[in-house]
Amino acid sequence: MKTIAISVQKGGCGKTTTAANLAAAIAAQGKRVLLIDNDPQSSLTLYCNLKQEKSVTNVYRGTAAIQETVQDWHGMDAVPADILLSQVENEIAERKDRRDILRKALSGVDQDYDFCIIDTAPGLGLLTVNALMASDHVIIPMEPNPADIWGLELFMSTLNQIRKAKPELTYSILLTSYNDRLKLHQAAKEAVESRSLNIYPVTIARNVRTAEAWGAHEPLLTYDRGNKNNIAYKTIAEMEISK
Ligand SMILES: Nc1ncnc2c1ncn2[C@@H]1O[C@H](COP(=O)(O)OP(=O)(O)OP(=O)(O)O)[C@@H](O)[C@H]1O
Ligand SMILES: [Mg+2]
Repeated sequence: MKTIAISVQKGGCGKTTTAANLAAAIAAQGKRVLLIDNDPQSSLTLYCNLKQEKSVTNVYRGTAAIQETVQDWHGMDAVPADILLSQVENEIAERKDRRDILRKALSGVDQDYDFCIIDTAPGLGLLTVNALMASDHVIIPMEPNPADIWGLELFMSTLNQIRKAKPELTYSILLTSYNDRLKLHQAAKEAVESRSLNIYPVTIARNVRTAEAWGAHEPLLTYDRGNKNNIAYKTIAEMEISK
């Protein structure tokens, strides 16, 4: 199983949208996908319209195994979150294995899935650290403007801390809400590229159908098949499958 976290400390830059739609794009390639909501805001849980029964909170607390928490979402297995997850960071803070709880839980389903996609909360807290420690790759969604480039450097320094314990963790930056007709966006893209950071060759555009798919609780792939963002998600899916 290859595990990919979708993570950056900034809020509202397309993490949850990317998690849901990349997972769907990977599943459309015939792969078995596990999708995890690791955010107390539970946005992915709302996107997928999951019931807040047994959740990832139970997994952290050791009161349920991953297999006991999954619900079907368009042929994938999805683990919901709930607001109680916000208490977990305090609960685990003193534990010796506090950074490895999710990784250990996922090792129990390693043979059951080809991919695990983890949606993380904004911020750099212990829940996000758990997601990064459990992952082989992290996708960093970023809106192409100067403030986000500054925020990216903060995230990269956190990532470098994690990579001291986990050198094999790779990353890719994904530009979201990208408009190639805007000079500001082109300049931001060039600024990222000039720093020799890993960036996907495709970008996600802002369009209303992408936001509407969320309200319909559907992957963009079924909600609006012809949407150009599907081509981007498919390209990323193929890249991650072939790596
Ligand atoms: N490509 C897009 N086009 C249009 N709207 C989008 C797009 N991507 C995301 N949105 C909308 O922008 C808002 C924020 O997106 P999303 O929830 O995916 O970001 P997030 O990074 O997960 O936020 P948070 O940090 O709060 O978890 C949502 O309302 C979503 O529907
Ligand atoms: Mg989110």
